[in-house]
Amino acid sequence: MTYTKILGTGRYLPENTISNNDLKQFVDTNDEWIFTRTGIKQRHISTGETTLDLAYQASLKAIKAANIKASEIDIIIVATVTSDYAFPGVANLLQAKLGISNIMAFDINAACSGFLYAMQIADKMIKSKAYHKALIVGAETLSRLTDWRDRNTCVLFGDGAGAMIIGTSNYNHIKDIITGSKGDEEMLLYCKNPDLKSIEENLVSPQDHIHMNGKEVFKFATRMMPKTLNELLERNNHEISDLNYIVAHQANSRIIQKAAKDLNIDMDKMYINIDQYGNTSAASVPIAIDEAIEKGYIKKGNLFATVAFGGGLTWASALIEY
Ligand code: ACO
Repeated sequence: MTYTKILGTGRYLPENTISNNDLKQFVDTNDEWIFTRTGIKQRHISTGETTLDLAYQASLKAIKAANIKASEIDIIIVATVTSDYAFPGVANLLQAKLGISNIMAFDINAACSGFLYAMQIADKMIKSKAYHKALIVGAETLSRLTDWRDRNTCVLFGDGAGAMIIGTSNYNHIKDIITGSKGDEEMLLYCKNPDLKSIEENLVSPQDHIHMNGKEVFKFATRMMPKTLNELLERNNHEISDLNYIVAHQANSRIIQKAAKDLNIDMDKMYINIDQYGNTSAASVPIAIDEAIEKGYIKKGNLFATVAFGGGLTWASALIEY
């Protein structure tokens, strides 16, 4: 039987940060509102580095942590909603930048759940024995899609990337992954690609931005996070108390607090870094896992769960023994 495990993780954030007070120059907002409603204090915003650049830096760190050569990687999956080009994908450009030839590389789009979707695909491909080592990345420059005139959304998002190498193992470390979606509620959170329009209309129409029904997304997130985690635990014969730690998608600290309350789990078992980064979409989960490992919240042999939700609407969770 082929099993899988995490071999290494890495993250990269662009250097430039924007505080809550800095946002006052664009919109009518304040630090107190943003922090009490979301837990965010600042976000990293790229000043020139593209999604590929962020993905590349995070990947180099994950490859180093895994103690492997880039040439050992036989599949790359990048989860992103902000690829540099419509095509080729970030994964293809990343493959070239890492100097790896002739391997499968592709992007997926499942918004903030994308990294766990990528993990599920890679996990199954390795367990099928067709592949041996996967580089999976969540990377975003959401600042490109942000409407800096809309205080309902612009305060929430940030740029960043997280990467992970997973590979074959004799022991079953990556135990289970759940993914799901609900396309009939997609308009709660969306950003349109350019409409199919006449050339004349295209000449005058601006690029679309992120639109969100915050209250409904909040309700969806607080309902779905405990639901998918409970399902994950139940189908693997575990109790919530068996978990050493939970790494949730960082969209709002109040969403994480509500999920912890409903799951009856202490907040000191929930990772929080949204104060530093805001919501980095597909990058949020791998950045948080990398930090939680680095800070010793997740130790070798610990059982942890990770959970995400996002546009689509999508959700995902994974149960992993590190
Ligand atoms: N600064 C000051 N005031 C603001 C701001 C701001 N940045 N934004 C909104 N307000 C005002 C509103 O206009 C409103 O004023 P009004 O009552 O006069 O109309 C008031 O604050 C309250 O606004 P609400 O929308 O009711 O605030 P709420 O408590 O619901 O918090 C929030 C809004 C933070 C967006 C919350 O609903 C939320 O976090 N939702 C989930 C969002 C989320 O997780 N999105 C990411 C999904 S993942 C992905 O795929 C990207």
